[in-house]
Parts: sequence; C-alpha cells; structure tokens
Amino acid sequence: MNKQKKYERLYEQLSVLLRKRTDIAAQMATINAVLYHKFDYFFWCGFYRLLDGELMVGPYQGPVACQTLEKNKGVCWASVNTKETIIVEDVHKFPDHIACDARSRSEIVIPIVKSDGTVLAVLDVDSKDMASFDKQDAEGLQKIISLISID
Ligand code: SME
Repeated sequence: MNKQKKYERLYEQLSVLLRKRTDIAAQMATINAVLYHKFDYFFWCGFYRLLDGELMVGPYQGPVACQTLEKNKGVCWASVNTKETIIVEDVHKFPDHIACDARSRSEIVIPIVKSDGTVLAVLDVDSKDMASFDKQDAEGLQKIISLISID
C-alpha cells in the first residue's frame, strides 16, 4: 500500500476512535499508539504541549524524551514560532536541533493551532534514517491531528 493510501486508512480508523472521546490527552495518546505501530520508520512519535510558555512533553511512544525543550531552540520551537510544519532531512544540519536521542536523524514537526491563532501543541515524529519525511507525511499527519478536539 502506498503511503498516501495508508494515511487515508489511518485517518478513517482514527476518526472513528477519536469521535468517542473529546479529552485531548486521550486523543493524543491514541494517535501516537496508532502511528507508532503502523509506520516502521517512526522511531519516536509524540506531542509537546505549550504550557505557560514552556514546551512540555505530552503523550508519546518510543524512547524516553526530554520533558521540556529549551525555549526558542530546536525544531519544535521553530514550528511553534512560525506556526508552520517543518521537515528536517538531516537533524545534524538544523541549527540548535535538540537531540533527545542521538539516534534520531530526520524529523517532522507539525503545529496544532487553535482558531484564535495560539499554538496548543506540536506533533513531533523522529526517524533513525535520513530524509524519512516528505510532503505526504506532512499532509497525512496534518489531517490526522485535525481530529483533535482543540477548540
Ligand atoms: N528534536 C526536537 C526535540 C524533541 S525530541 O527529539 C523527541 C527539537 O529539536 O525540537
């Protein structure tokens, strides 16, 4: 199955699962569990929530990660500050990249923006391979996180 079809299928599955609950933590945990186990190259998959000006780790799957991320450093903060999805082909080339696990080589970060324009959280996915993420991952993941009850 190609990647786009796989994302479409997972979106359908998750839309049924997430419809039953509106608690954000429950929804985030469910999304992570599904994504982490369905994509071989997802080495770490999780959310960082923006709480009182700090990025605090939320539900995730994979190796133990940093609990908070130093302000305005790294990919997650860049995504919060620009409100854009960021794809990093080689984390060693990203200035200020924060390596919670030295095995990560590429990553994608997608912001979750509320209707008032404030950022609620980001979804961060890491891979042990270079250049694992592309436009299809960005579109597929953006659609999946739109299922979270943010407003
Ligand atoms: N690489 C991220 C930090 C989070 S972890 O890798 C799980 C960053 O640069 O913001």
